[in-house]
This record gives sequence, C-alpha cells and structure tokens, in this order.
Amino acid sequence: MLRISQVIAPFLLFLAQPLLAAETLRSPGGDIEVVVDVTSGGRPFYKVAYRGEEVVAPSHLGFRFKDQPALDERLVISGAARSSKDESWEQPWGERRLMRDVHNELRIDFATTEKKPRHFSVRFRAFDDGVGFRYEFPGEKAMKTAAIVDELTEFRLPEEATYWWIPGRRWNRYEYLYHTTKADAIDIAHTPMTLKTKSGAHLSIHEAALVDYAGMALNQQRPGIFKADLAPWSDGVLVRKSGAFTTPWRTIQIAPDAKSLLASTLILNLNEPNTLGDVSWVEPGKYVGVWWEMHIRDSSWGMKPLHGATTENTKRYIDFAAKHGFKGVLVEGWNIGWDDDWFGNGEVFDFTKAYPDFDIEAIGAYAREKGVRLIGHHETGGAASHYEQQMDAALDLYERVGVRAVKTGYVADGGGIQRIDEKGVERFEWHDGQFMADHHLKVVKAAAKRKIAINPHEPIKDTGLRRTYPNWVSREGARGQEYNAWGIPPLPPEHDTILPFTRLLSGPMDFTPGIFDLRPNERPPVNAELGRNSRASRVETTLAKQLALYVTVYSPIQMAADLPENYEKRPAAFQFIKDVPTDWEDTVGVAAEIGDYAAIARKERGGEDWFLGAITDENARRLDLPLSFLDSGLTYIAEIYRDGPKADYDKNPYDIVIERLQVTRADTLRLALGRGGGAAVRFTPKP
Ligand code: NOJ
Ligand code: CA
Repeated sequence: MLRISQVIAPFLLFLAQPLLAAETLRSPGGDIEVVVDVTSGGRPFYKVAYRGEEVVAPSHLGFRFKDQPALDERLVISGAARSSKDESWEQPWGERRLMRDVHNELRIDFATTEKKPRHFSVRFRAFDDGVGFRYEFPGEKAMKTAAIVDELTEFRLPEEATYWWIPGRRWNRYEYLYHTTKADAIDIAHTPMTLKTKSGAHLSIHEAALVDYAGMALNQQRPGIFKADLAPWSDGVLVRKSGAFTTPWRTIQIAPDAKSLLASTLILNLNEPNTLGDVSWVEPGKYVGVWWEMHIRDSSWGMKPLHGATTENTKRYIDFAAKHGFKGVLVEGWNIGWDDDWFGNGEVFDFTKAYPDFDIEAIGAYAREKGVRLIGHHETGGAASHYEQQMDAALDLYERVGVRAVKTGYVADGGGIQRIDEKGVERFEWHDGQFMADHHLKVVKAAAKRKIAINPHEPIKDTGLRRTYPNWVSREGARGQEYNAWGIPPLPPEHDTILPFTRLLSGPMDFTPGIFDLRPNERPPVNAELGRNSRASRVETTLAKQLALYVTVYSPIQMAADLPENYEKRPAAFQFIKDVPTDWEDTVGVAAEIGDYAAIARKERGGEDWFLGAITDENARRLDLPLSFLDSGLTYIAEIYRDGPKADYDKNPYDIVIERLQVTRADTLRLALGRGGGAAVRFTPKP
C-alpha cells in the first residue's frame, strides 16, 4: 500500500528547493547571450542569441541511464556561480602562435527532487566566438557508476538556414562529400556541422576535449531539433563512467560571416593545457612518401605483384627528400600482412617484422645520414586490440631507427573496429565510440614517451586535444586527396571550399595535397597484374589550386603527395611547395563563401613572409583581395602562382602563370581563378 507521504514527498521536496530564476550569461564583447533555466516540469534548457537574433531556440539538457533514474525532468536549479577569464597562452606549433582565452563563465547546479537528491552541474562559457558547455558529475554515492543510454542535449537550430554536413553513423566514417541543404534533408550528421542563418550569421556545432566519452553526432528529431547522438558500445550502452566525471564540451561557434569563422579559437581554448612538457621534439614539416604510387597502381603495398616499399625505392625517395629539403619520408606497405586479407581484418599485421626486401635498419641509417627522417606507418585494418598488443614493441622499433612520426590507420567500415574484451571475446565498435576515444589517447601517450608524433587515418574526429597532447599532430577524418586516385568519382571542385568551414574548424587534416600529374589513371599500366584504376578518376583541380591547398588546408605536417618524377617535370611550380611553411605565426580569413570560394592568408612562424591560398569551386571567378593582413611599413615582393587565362580543371588544368609583383598592405590583389582553380602567393618583404 502506498502511503500519502510517499506520494507527496517528492512534490514537497520540489517546492523546498530554492527556485532560482533564469540565469543569463553574456560574451565579453556582448554579442552572444546564453539563457539557462528549467521548464515548469523541471526540464533544464538553454538558449543562445547572437546580436539579438535567437540562433539556438530553447534546447533541452539531460541524461538517461541504464543503472540510474534519468536526469531529465523534475530538476531544480540549486545554485549558480560565475567567473571570468582573460589569459594568453602560446601554441608550440599551430595555425597561430599566440592564443587568447577571454570568456565569461556560468556554472548552473541542478538537483533532483528525489528523497536523496542527486546533483550535476552544467558549466557554460561564453566567448566572443561562441559558446561551450559541459556536464559535470560530482561522483556522489548515489551515482557511483553511470551507464549512459541517452544524452538529451539538444541544439534547436533554424530550419531555413543553409547547412553543410556529412552523414553520421555510416560505413564510410567521416569520408563523405558534404551536402549543402536546408535542415529538412538531414537525418544524422557528424560534427562539425556548419550553418548559415537567413540573416547571414554562421554557426558551427561541434565538441571539444573528447576524452573517455563517445563522439557526438547530431540526430535531427523533429524539424530543426538536433539531439546529441553518441556512438554506442557494442552492447548498446553509449558511455560508461564511474566516480566523478565531466563530459566533453558541446560547442557552438558563431561568426558574422564565413571568413570570420576561421579566426575562432574556442575549441582549443576549451581544451586542457599541454601535459607533455617540453615538446620541441614535435617537428612540423613537409614530407614525401611511398604512398601515391600504390593508390594509382604503379606499385602495391604487398610483395605481390610489385612491391613499393623496397629498400631501393625508399632510398630513391630519401634522396629526393634530401635534395629538395623535405624532412620526412613516409613508407607504407613495409611490414608483414599486406598480402593477406587486411581490410577490416588487421590481425594479419605484424608491426615489428618487415618484408624481406625492406631493410628497416639500413634505411633508417641511410635516412639519418641524409638528414631525413623515416615516417612510420601502422595500418591496423581496424583491429585496435591487436594493435595495442604490439604497440609498445612496434614504437620501440621505430624509435630505434630514428622515426619521429607515425601515421596510423583504421581501415574498417564504421562500426567495424575490432575489440577483444576482457573475456577474450571479439566485439565490434565504432571509430568514434568511447573505446576508440580511449584507444587513440593510449597510442598518443605511448608515442609521446618515445618522442614520436601521431597522425591517424580513419581516426576519431578532432576535438582540439592537440593542445593537451601536442604530439597528436594531424589526422585524416574527412574525404581527402586519395579519392582522386581510386577510379571512383573524384573530389568535386567545391569540396576544398567547404573543408575550411567544417572539418578543418576541428583541427589539422592530413589531406595530402600537391598532385602534379592530374590524370594519373590515363597512363598505360606499369604492371599488367596491377592494371589501372578507372579513368573516371581525375584530379578536378588546376595545378595552381594544388599549390593553394598548402595554405587553405591547415596541417603542421603536409605531404607533397605525388611521385618525385612528376615534381621534377615541373620545377617552377614545385618551388612553391618547397617554399611554403607548415607552421604559422598567424592566420587570417581574407574572403570566403562556403562551397564557392575561400582565400586564407598565413604568416610563417619565425620569419616575415606571408602566404596566401585562394581557391574556387567549379565556377571561374574574380577575387579582389585586400592585402591589409600584410605588416605595415613594409613593401613585399609577391610571388604569384595563379591560373593562366585558359586554366580549367576539366579542359586545361596545367595553365599556370608565375609572376612577381611589388605590393603593400594598401593594395588589393586581383585574381582570376579558372573553373576548379586557385592561386598561391608568397609575400617576401623587400630588403
Ligand atoms: C587509408 C589511408 O587514408 C591511406 O592514406 C593509406 O594509404 C591506406 N589507408 C592504407 O593504409
Ligand atoms: Ca558552389
């Protein structure tokens, strides 16, 4: 029988809590306003306005658990605390050196109306470039463990905005072409998801500091209501926690226009400072490698039919690197396993045994002699547990032969990461689930012990952890250049004009620019057994645009991806790749419309030169670019690598003009870009 007190107790408790009013938080400059409150039913929500426009309508917060009652309604605000910060910090490497973290903070404490109330807080930070918030659980007795089965965080966004998005929770991970649609076309989207409202405000939804938690995609439920959709474990639970914990920051970057999004520092500011101490051993730089030749079928990863990673061929690349000033040489296909059925089945790989025609010790010594470093490669085929078993020995070997950076790979379909559980049973996980969030950090930490940097392909998304672990230098996590090799529809020209405002807002990408033979599949095969990929795959850019990508795609390690002989055929254009740095003092968005064109300027770190990359989609266009980013009081020689008058990605991709002009910051640079074209410029102060 139910006693009266049992029925009314929760209600009385609800009334007994101090009922605090809605709390408002403003960004330091005042453009952004966040309001946090609970509904009459006790459901927590927040909303965001930008310059008076409601850009995020009232959106719910909360959780459901397997082992706990939900934290979703009948909650009260039990406290609030405010603080502010204005701090500067320096990046060891990056797209800009000096960082400023200026924000106002509001922590809202919520309590349940249970007999023994449970508590959690949501910490909001308002910056001038957006908002971040995260949940914090104190580790109360009543909540020793949390098996999260639903995160209720919502983002209620304008339906009529233009969205740039890729689908989430699908087989090809993050490697989709971007869709440009209204909200109604979206089902589940990965983040960063970027949108432009009718008034022209630009927003990007993402997360920061994804540590020991599942990656968040956005599931559009009712029109315009995007709810957090966390990548589940193989048993259906989304996230497992014990004791006190915080979630990653949910982030909303906000800017008045596309080019200003590029100035956003919010994601890095929400991450924890460097925990590795002196990281001067993390070296930004350019590299070449035994790589593209396999993708275009000039050679193979396995011994048969035509091994690419031979001692002799690798030495050829080392010689080329040494001659032209590249720091690294990547070698793929050097270790046992590639001849087997490795795709999604990485247990065939041995990370300490080289193929007999690859003398790793001799190659390491040869590279060191030439002042070049080997770049390691660990393709796991998605068998993450198998890799973890060999990881220490594998990294030890690389450390011994002088490797300072390792590219890892997780080629397996989404949901196909192999994990061996505590009982030895094989399970399959998502690339962006909690298991992989933990796995990547294990690898990054093990590598850091040996002064090795990590560059994962088929990775978990970037959430700014390079601040905390500066040896996590780059990653893939989007559709990159390799798609131009495979004989399937290549990257359309607009792709590169969307990346800076979506994927690249999250951090560096190993896109691998610099293809100079733009028709690699139209040559006769070098090996009958290998044949050729379908001619359908061309590179849909002009030559000048390949150069521009070194500036528009940020990564501290940049590949010159093509074959040495293709660079030697075009030494004048190659000069730009040799000259362009990969580490920057500052970055400036000069002009952009997402999906149409982008012009980005960066100043080299430790020098006076500025570099500019300008790219367009499938339309030819003129850009008038104010050079006001240049330093005042200086006259510069601009070395311009631009599309020639007939340049066109389809009909005439090699038409390039290389010329010099004298300019100052008062000038405007007039550029004519061909279809799928671009321009790359180096500005050097006149002595
Ligand atoms: C996919 C990676 O993106 C590519 O760079 C690599 O060559 C292959 N996997 C093989 O590991
Ligand atoms: Ca377009």
